[in-house]
Amino acid sequence: MISNVQERILKLKKERDVCVLAHSYMSEEICEVADFTGDSYALSVKAASARQKTVVMCGVRFMAETVKMLSPDKKVILANPQAACPMAEQMDKELISELKKSYPGYAVVAYINTTAQLKTIADVCVTSSSAVKICRALPQKDILFIPDINLGSYIKKMVPEKNIALVSGGCPTHARMEKRDALAAKAAHPGALLLVHPECRPEVTQLADYVGSTTGIMDFAVKSEAEEFIIGTENSIVQHLQFKCPDKKFYPLSKDMVCHNMRLTTLCDVLNCIEGKGGEEIIMPPELIAQAVKCIEKMIELGG
Ligand code: 13P
Ligand code: SF4
Repeated sequence: MISNVQERILKLKKERDVCVLAHSYMSEEICEVADFTGDSYALSVKAASARQKTVVMCGVRFMAETVKMLSPDKKVILANPQAACPMAEQMDKELISELKKSYPGYAVVAYINTTAQLKTIADVCVTSSSAVKICRALPQKDILFIPDINLGSYIKKMVPEKNIALVSGGCPTHARMEKRDALAAKAAHPGALLLVHPECRPEVTQLADYVGSTTGIMDFAVKSEAEEFIIGTENSIVQHLQFKCPDKKFYPLSKDMVCHNMRLTTLCDVLNCIEGKGGEEIIMPPELIAQAVKCIEKMIELGG
């Protein structure tokens, strides 16, 4: 059932020519009013082609920055200014510039969960759903992958023909899961398939029946003939899947799979942004955009 706040959002966004983009981790009520919901890769592609002049991004800061870089003429608003991905802030440009000196000739491949500053020294960006394809397609054999050691380990396994150097960053929400958590969930639900995000540790992904992005996990579960699934990513995906597939059963890998930053944005934040009373407009220096957007455009070229 559509609530009053949702009705106001739907009416106002039409009147004011606003596009609402929501990452898959957003709540069901936000996804219901969004023009598009998806994983980081799909959101980047969608942002580049949105026809509206204003975009409200419901997700975390690097996602709103990505939208701004791909559409610098649009007004881009981060729905909740406090929502930031801790992994994106783990490494700065100076640290990686210094590290690059030890890896001459290596392609620097950056997870999209990074700051715009860091993107200026990357050769290409990747998301969880495009990383394997893009690393395979790169002409360089030697790759320095930053900052997620778990996603990097997964790419290393899937692309053994490349020489991939890793650094030790990662997502606090996914990296918290250990082998014993996966084994406990499997023991509690012996008939269920385990679907996990590649930000999980290798000891967890090794036990999985499917490894993929948030959209990948949802598509797999919807299409699968299996009836029970353990979901190894942010627990909002458990709820979305339960709505999509009421006849199937979904269990969280752990009750601790919660990203507090992704949980910050509320439906009222979205309304406030459209009414011009909230959110934060993303302002970035044109020179920074010009430098940082190159690796995002390269990602879309190689990942499509
Ligand atoms: P996706 O690439 O699946 O959107 O993942 C983004 C993310 O932040 C996962 O924690
Ligand atoms: Fe960042 Fe992890 Fe939250 Fe995704 S789940 S936004 S990678 S902290």
